[in-house]
Amino acid sequence: MTATDISTIATIPYADQRPGTGGLRKRTSAFTQPNYLENFLQSIFDTAQLPAGAALVVGGDGRYLNRHAIQVCLRMAAANGIGSVLVGRGGLLSTPAASHLIRRSGAAAGIIFSASHNPAGPDGDFGVKLNLASGGPAPESVTEAIAARSRTIDQYRIATAPDVPLDEIGEHAVEGMPVVVVDPVADYAALMESLFDFDAIRELFAAGFRMSYDGMHAATGPYAIEILERRLGAAQGTVVNGVPLEDFGGGHADPNLTYARDLVERLRAPDAPDFGAASDGDGDRNMILGRRFFVSPSDSLAVLTEHATLVPAYRGGLAGVARSMPTSRAVDRVATALGIPCYETPTGWKFFGNLLEAGRITLCGEESFGTGSTHVREKDGLWAVLFWLNILAVRRESVEGIVRAHWARHGRVLYTRLDYEEVPLDAGRAVMDAVRARLPDLRGSTLGGRAVVLADEFAYTDPVDGSTSAGQGLRIGLEDEARIVFRLSGTGTAGATIRLYLEQPVGGAEADARGAPGGTTSHPALETLLGHALAIGEIEARTGRTAPSVVT
Ligand code: G1P
Ligand code: ZN
Repeated sequence: MTATDISTIATIPYADQRPGTGGLRKRTSAFTQPNYLENFLQSIFDTAQLPAGAALVVGGDGRYLNRHAIQVCLRMAAANGIGSVLVGRGGLLSTPAASHLIRRSGAAAGIIFSASHNPAGPDGDFGVKLNLASGGPAPESVTEAIAARSRTIDQYRIATAPDVPLDEIGEHAVEGMPVVVVDPVADYAALMESLFDFDAIRELFAAGFRMSYDGMHAATGPYAIEILERRLGAAQGTVVNGVPLEDFGGGHADPNLTYARDLVERLRAPDAPDFGAASDGDGDRNMILGRRFFVSPSDSLAVLTEHATLVPAYRGGLAGVARSMPTSRAVDRVATALGIPCYETPTGWKFFGNLLEAGRITLCGEESFGTGSTHVREKDGLWAVLFWLNILAVRRESVEGIVRAHWARHGRVLYTRLDYEEVPLDAGRAVMDAVRARLPDLRGSTLGGRAVVLADEFAYTDPVDGSTSAGQGLRIGLEDEARIVFRLSGTGTAGATIRLYLEQPVGGAEADARGAPGGTTSHPALETLLGHALAIGEIEARTGRTAPSVVT
């Protein structure tokens, strides 16, 4: 006898539901409204067309509500005919580990509870993400269909069953549906061991190389402790803030110069370690630091591309690379030198998925601290850290030395991103409208004496399936390959966030100037671009903001 309830859904507001990156991200308080979570999960089960008896992977980044959401999800999976579920112990699975587990186990889909780098806790954010059998986020057509369904459904299916003991590895059940609690780290660590030269990295640490990894009290702590300290022999204490906490320790688990300030300070101290790194809430982002040296994510992608053949998994060379449009064109230079294609995609990981799946690219990355490869279908923070360690172990040079050699060989692209977070929606749109209106005039004119060679709104045609995406950011390109880009964030949960990206190639002595540990924003060439951008977007007048909230 089964004890499946079909509950009727109370009326709750869904009007503001907007499909985001593979799912739904909202204030935690939205998810604690009666039936809200159940509504969205049922919409997934109704829409995703999972084959009867399908296996599902379920996990999350460990934030507040994670365990509750997983128990609800398991009961609903049982009531919706799911065949079996693999779930990470304690409900934990980093996003890249979930992607790998889906692929390795042959699951039909994965449900990941995470709001990525957004703050966690009752006053923070929560999210639900659907990944498909490829291991990558569900495409927009699917997330839109789920969101549409969530506005019309009037019942959901849920089993009446006790909680599954999520901390006990092994096979459990919800009614007749097997639920296997697995070690969230083991498969992922084995994958990393199969990609990188662990022997070389072990020797590096044995030779006294010191590192600081900041788990930011989110999902990656246990992964980093197992891989860096246990398997690679890094000193105990290499991983700091390694215990996942429901509120991420009250911090903002986003590895950038603002939110990972403690790590930046450790790398600036007189006794700083050789290497510093951090990941975000769900483990898909990474920040790379050398001693008193910040590696901009755009440069990091270029350096990984340049040295890829030092890594066993990429020894045979790269099929191609891809970067999101606002990412600096440093990697394009390396791709040209290597004679491999370089694709420019809209912001967001899903656009890389088709290229990875079609074998057109091997590496890809974004300026927003995301880097990845064919090994999973998500960006992967720890993977990028291990890639750097592999390069450092083979080359035995400092992080700074490796980046400077890259600049000497390919030139340096100064880069900065300014975020005006949570401005009123209208103000955000008004800034974009103002810039858009100026584009025709800018075309063919000059800006501070430099010819404007490009002024357009970026649109993308997917080379694999021919689908098109319009309205992907406003670009102004100058004759010396300098560039200004305006975009509105698609991931914020309140108001609008304006992102302003500035890029300026420099050569010779300028390229060799000391890389400011806090980024390159203070460079006069970027200040000049910023002046143009502020004037074109009338940002101060339209938003009332005299300064951005985050500068990277
Ligand atoms: C941001 C980043 C983007 C990344 C996304 C998900 O999106 O800019 O590169 O893919 O988060 O991590 P945005 O808020 O800019 O839309
Ligand atoms: Zn993330």
